[in-house]
Amino acid sequence: MTATVIPVRLGERSYEVRYIGKAADIAAALQPVKGKEFALVDAKVDRLHGKALRKALPRVEFIKIPSGEGSKSFLALEKTANQLVRHGATRHSRLYAIGGGVVGDLTGFLAGVFMRGIPFVQVPTTLLAMVDSSVGGKTAVNIAAGKNLVGVFHQPQAVFILPALLKTLPVRELRCGLSESIKTALIADAGLVATLERRPYEERKTDIDYLAEISAASIRIKADIVSKDEKEQNIRAFLNFGHTLAHAIEAKTGFRGILHGEAVAIGQRSAALLSRRVAGLSAADETRIGDLLRKYRLPATLKTPFPKSVKVNELVRLMRADKKNMSGDIRFVLLRGIGACELPRPVPETELLASLKEFQTLGG
Ligand SMILES: NC(=O)c1ccc[n+]([C@@H]2O[C@H](COP(=O)([O-])OP(=O)(O)OC[C@H]3O[C@@H](n4cnc5c(N)ncnc54)[C@H](O)[C@@H]3O)[C@@H](O)[C@H]2O)c1
Repeated sequence: MTATVIPVRLGERSYEVRYIGKAADIAAALQPVKGKEFALVDAKVDRLHGKALRKALPRVEFIKIPSGEGSKSFLALEKTANQLVRHGATRHSRLYAIGGGVVGDLTGFLAGVFMRGIPFVQVPTTLLAMVDSSVGGKTAVNIAAGKNLVGVFHQPQAVFILPALLKTLPVRELRCGLSESIKTALIADAGLVATLERRPYEERKTDIDYLAEISAASIRIKADIVSKDEKEQNIRAFLNFGHTLAHAIEAKTGFRGILHGEAVAIGQRSAALLSRRVAGLSAADETRIGDLLRKYRLPATLKTPFPKSVKVNELVRLMRADKKNMSGDIRFVLLRGIGACELPRPVPETELLASLKEFQTLGG
């Protein structure tokens, strides 16, 4: 597994996702830069792995970023940019993002705009960041008006995956990465779906080799999609499967009590139901999707975020406000079959309300 290398083909912005066995392999694989190098490291990751990482990257200065979504903010961006300047960063510097999607998105955005753009390297430490956010060059911070509303496309120079870092990741965070892996499989690869169904899964005894194997399979799919459609003009939208309802759930709960990957799991189950109603997905495949999410202990009903029920028209209102919906239409990425995805299509409000009401009747 340690020899796995996945290319992301984007002309002069091409790079590789490399699975490595030890952090020291990072420095060995990169060309040196003229300026000082800085790692922006998630504070929790620093507590758990900082000593080994610092030893492996002796020429890199570490700056701690507080854990949590709050660090994806203009405040954190400005504070970190000032720290970089104080510590001698120039336009010849390079940044390393060492953490989950929060640190990855913040560092990527900062690298995209600092001195009008400097290179950065992704070292994802959550499964979600490994399978999704570290690859593809989407970066952003949140503003009061919404999540991820200000950002740039800025591709990393390289992505290094150290599967052993997952040993310290809480199980609930691990499941969030599995949710994104399931999504990636469902939109493009029936074989990977079958593997996810077939392989035994015991979450308290995380099998790092298995996680490395399925994460690599997911990254291959994402890398292929991004290589064909970097700026999401077309098929990159497939990766938003399950996200329309997920964003509405996150907005309704104020991001409290539910993690992104969990909201995406509920969104996928609901999108499977809608796909059966309007896109020709078979009832058997809809059931398979529900079973697969449950196998990986992911929530698949609205009862998890809303134990006392929720008004479906409220969710529809929030979906309409989502930034991905053009001209008031509510658009959904739907499946024709397992591994067969469609470009986003508008779904009439009456159908949406009916499908959400049906979704509310589903048990656990
Ligand atoms: N850019 C993209 O394409 C993209 C795609 C998907 C999600 N995202 C963004 O990613 C973010 C979510 O990322 P996330 O789920 O990785 O969350 P996160 O970065 O908040 O990390 C989750 C938690 O795990 C901890 N952690 C990280 N690595 C650890 C390790 N190895 N051991 C123990 N604890 C560890 C962190 O301290 C944090 O508490 C969201 O902001 C989302 O918008 C971006």
